[in-house]
Amino acid sequence: MTEKYWKLLQKNREQTSGRRINSLFEEDRSRFNNFSVITEDLILDYSKTNIDQHAKTNLVNLVKFGSVQSKVNDMFSGKKINVTENRSVLHTALRNLNSSLLVNGIDINLKVNQSLEKVSKFSEKIRSGQMTSQSGEPFTDIVNIGIGGSDLGPRMVVRALSPYQNGPKVHFVSNLDSSDITDAISLLNPMTTLFIISSKSFTTLETLTNAETAKRWIISALGKTGMRNFVAVCSSRDSALKFGILEDQIFEFEDWVGGRFSVWGPIGLPVMLAVGTATFRKFLEGARSLDKQFQKSKTVENLPTMLALIGIWHASICQYPSRAILPYEHRLEYLTMYLQQLDMESNGKSVDRNGDFIVKPSTPISWGQTGTNGQHAFYQFLHQSNQVVPCEFILGANGFEEDLQIAHHEGLIANCLAQSEALMTGMDNEKYFKDKRKDQKQLIIPNSHLFCSGNRPSTTLLYSKLTPEILGKLLALFEHRTFVEGAIWNINSFDQWGVEFGKKLARKINDSIKDKDYFEAFSSSTIGLTNQIKRLKKQKI
Ligand code: F6P
Repeated sequence: MTEKYWKLLQKNREQTSGRRINSLFEEDRSRFNNFSVITEDLILDYSKTNIDQHAKTNLVNLVKFGSVQSKVNDMFSGKKINVTENRSVLHTALRNLNSSLLVNGIDINLKVNQSLEKVSKFSEKIRSGQMTSQSGEPFTDIVNIGIGGSDLGPRMVVRALSPYQNGPKVHFVSNLDSSDITDAISLLNPMTTLFIISSKSFTTLETLTNAETAKRWIISALGKTGMRNFVAVCSSRDSALKFGILEDQIFEFEDWVGGRFSVWGPIGLPVMLAVGTATFRKFLEGARSLDKQFQKSKTVENLPTMLALIGIWHASICQYPSRAILPYEHRLEYLTMYLQQLDMESNGKSVDRNGDFIVKPSTPISWGQTGTNGQHAFYQFLHQSNQVVPCEFILGANGFEEDLQIAHHEGLIANCLAQSEALMTGMDNEKYFKDKRKDQKQLIIPNSHLFCSGNRPSTTLLYSKLTPEILGKLLALFEHRTFVEGAIWNINSFDQWGVEFGKKLARKINDSIKDKDYFEAFSSSTIGLTNQIKRLKKQKI
């Protein structure tokens, strides 16, 4: 149904790839208004891309004739769209608290509200000091032990909402590298430290290893009663009980919440502890309102859908292999890491839902860093390399530090806008070729080391201020962008079988380091490296 529009888009690109983006502004004085989505507190400007009206129309046709809307309805209604795991995908239900949803006779909404109530009560008991440590002192520090979606979401949200922090200090441990947990607990008091073991499966090697280390640390200081300093957030109650978590300190979530989509539920406990459940509910409300916009708005006014179509244009039509995520908000310093998992674990696949190989270039590599720091790291590449990287600038109109708006925030805004303008316009080489009369020394020739070619596309996602509601909207926006891109590429965005293979091999190598015979199964590189590691371990350092 959509092949026709793919071909039209390809033809459009062939005809326009040499066009300067800024020429589009000369053709259409209202280009900003015609190539942006403007809502009350979120604006998506995609006018600094090479998308013209023909391309926009055919991108919209990919949605219209690619049955994207019905796929959206399937997700929100609880259809088992995660076909390889035979699961629904209902992270949206975690924030749609007042909607009623029955799936296979189960009242999803009741489950969600009961779960949120239970976790919220626990969080408020800890924050208020009603629930204390053995010594009767309130818990001063929270250590979340988790990885992937059981770490990146809460870590990123706690950091982003730091102006709203008014509870115990929250730390995050994720890596198998012992330095992670060692550094995290080195200055903490076991008596007043509460550990949250966050793991949907409760089988992840990194998390269980860190949890055992934490358990030894607590029990050696407090004795077996120290287990009251542990909480589990998981989908496997029995495993948590077996680890020794107290019955009423286990918070479960359902298998229809994917790890990378789980911050909205009990996995968000570190956020609730840091900022309180009222603020957490505002975060949920922001996401819910974006969900409604996503479900109801027509394509050209639909923020996630238009952001996805721009992604499709850059990845599949222009065939740019990556995209740079550039938040000009330092408290979003973990956003890029979060979006790497969201994008690349969801859509980093080569086979579609029908079992056919995906031949079009699809999911790009997501990378980036906060501005203005990135300007001193890789913007040289963005401006002058021979590879084009579409940039996604993310910018708040207002900062939190009122007294520093002029000295800091206005400069931050200016840098963000300047970078997107410079990437598009480059240095005016047309002027060099046209205007021979001028003193040529003033103009920079294209093969000069000073020259910036420009014509490098970018979008700008502008919001009012990084409040809990706006953060909820932003994350829901990116979740649905990933969903729509996956829907158009016909990918199952909700499983992650690729990571299982690496985990299995790691366990095999771990075992075989102890048992030489097992080793023969591996490449001579791995065997050689392991032998070198054994040699280096013997060195006296
Ligand atoms: O990276 C693979 C993965 O399964 C992610 O999808 C998940 O968020 C992470 O590992 C942690 O899994 P769990 O929450 O089960 O420990």
